[in-house]
Amino acid sequence: MAKRIIILLFSAFAVLSCTVNDVDRTVGVIPQPHHISMPEKAGSFVLDRDCAIFLDEPTEEMYRIAGFLNEKLKKAAGFTLPVKEVNLTPKARGIYFMNAGNPSEAYNLHIMPDMAVVDYGDGAGAFYALQTMFQLLPNQIFASSVQKGVKWNMTCCDIEDSPRFKYRGMHLDVCLHFFDIDFLKRYIDLMALHKVNRFHWHLTEDQGWRLEIKKYPLLTQKGQWRKETVIGSLKSGIYDGKPHGGYYSQEQVRELVKYAAERYVTIIPEIELPGHALAAIACYPELSCGLDSTYEVATKWGVFKQVYCPKEETFKFLEDVFDEVFELFPSKLVHIGGDECPKASWKKCPHCQALIRKLGLKDEFELQSWFVTRMEKYINSKGREIIGWDEILQGGLAPNAKVMSWLGEEGGIKAAQQHHEVVMSPHYRYYLDYWQADPDSEPLAMGGPTTLRTMYDYNPVPEVLTDEEARYVIGVEGCVWTEYMPTPARVEYMAWPRMCAIAESGWTKAGKDWDGFASRLENHLVRLDELGVGYCDAFFNPYIEFHKDTQYDKVVTISVDAPGAEIHYTLDGSLPTADSPLYTGPFVVNRQQKVTAIAVRNGRQIGKTKYKTFLIN
Ligand code: ACM
Ligand code: ZN
Repeated sequence: MAKRIIILLFSAFAVLSCTVNDVDRTVGVIPQPHHISMPEKAGSFVLDRDCAIFLDEPTEEMYRIAGFLNEKLKKAAGFTLPVKEVNLTPKARGIYFMNAGNPSEAYNLHIMPDMAVVDYGDGAGAFYALQTMFQLLPNQIFASSVQKGVKWNMTCCDIEDSPRFKYRGMHLDVCLHFFDIDFLKRYIDLMALHKVNRFHWHLTEDQGWRLEIKKYPLLTQKGQWRKETVIGSLKSGIYDGKPHGGYYSQEQVRELVKYAAERYVTIIPEIELPGHALAAIACYPELSCGLDSTYEVATKWGVFKQVYCPKEETFKFLEDVFDEVFELFPSKLVHIGGDECPKASWKKCPHCQALIRKLGLKDEFELQSWFVTRMEKYINSKGREIIGWDEILQGGLAPNAKVMSWLGEEGGIKAAQQHHEVVMSPHYRYYLDYWQADPDSEPLAMGGPTTLRTMYDYNPVPEVLTDEEARYVIGVEGCVWTEYMPTPARVEYMAWPRMCAIAESGWTKAGKDWDGFASRLENHLVRLDELGVGYCDAFFNPYIEFHKDTQYDKVVTISVDAPGAEIHYTLDGSLPTADSPLYTGPFVVNRQQKVTAIAVRNGRQIGKTKYKTFLIN
């Protein structure tokens, strides 16, 4: 009955359908919703103390979702709203959560002058409607203290939304550097705000083991520690002399899994095998091929030849570890790593060679495939599924495995063609440890640069796939490897706002619209400011690049990602102004000239002044 009254009200709400671009500046949501319509008559719904939150289904889950709204209101607006079951008085002003049987994660949002109505089908849909609603409110809703004098209005609109991919992931490597649980909660909050629903938690590495395993206490007593860490680039040969460690107790893991689930984020744990296993081997050398006299947790980045030896005691160890993992993580999917496993030890190891002969395998690549397939069988027998990095394709893919394609697109294409599900995270597009701007003026990073725009423009479904094969691409993931990110602040600087671009590629079904994204992003950055996220603001800066070098001159291009900006520059070392020459296309400079550039919009500089000379390039 209540539903019918509200639906009747909707029919009186005449909407004028318009394209997404028409409304970008009034309804600026990231990721872009599937469809937005604006009413003929502009209006807004004002959220004030007289409103209430009405629940069609008064379940614990829906009360929790209503609680998220009250949490934000309490912090930023200084009041909370009563939460009530839907009553039959349609005049009551408020936000109505109505189960309308939408597909999982999908929702419709109707903002009218007197009420805001959310149609959902499951908690995830209701939660995502709420995330959108937060972005319809003034940006101060993300503030951490009460904001005086703000009118908490939402522009009247009609939104119909559902995701493009079921897997929208963000990875965090906590091994190269360790991060505490409070930071991981904040990380998950930011993911949830962007409708990212998979947290890929990279828990084991050569440089540290971070997950408490009760049956193998040395893994965290000893394996969490490396005695020191390389300073600067991995080849510097200079070390800081400071032990680095940290691990998560099983109690903390349970707490984080619950925290994430309440925000509709599934945690996918990664336990690396057969390579990237040095921290475990340093604790239990019997798991190795036994060719070294000592093993130490790695102190620099890279790939190490000491890997698990495929013998019975190794499988027993790994099965025991996964048994505890299954107790902690409800996710059906677990990540088994599988990347970068050097074959040198297996080539020299009598056991490995005898095993290759006994099994009739062609080489060590087939041994790797056999290793992964054997583990898959065990993991499948416990009702779980595996995903691994591209290299699990080498020597043949395990029968039920999914592939996370990082080396490029080739592995993803191959796996999809073999009808295995694929998550796309090619390093040159989706690795957030790559430079996002000119390396000359950015902190040390792993590769790239991969700018925000490059990331945004990437189409995660390779064009060579047929429509049928393309269905095996189940999503995208942004990867945060932390070799050069020793602090939470550095992680946030590298991840944001580029993760906004990946989130939009994962969620939004419409084609790419860089201008729309860029203009929404400018406002979104204010939200990130309110949340205290120290994102990289290179988006506003000119990016000067030298090309086609000769000893005497270079071709220069200058670009800026912020929409509506033009570039002005000088070549004599003076600071440019809006009256300096306008950049219109590539030009040549000689050794005596220093290029200095600014981005200008509406006659005023935005972003930082950037320069480049022969000396620093
Ligand atoms: C990887 O970056 N080694 C998956
Ligand atoms: Zn061996």
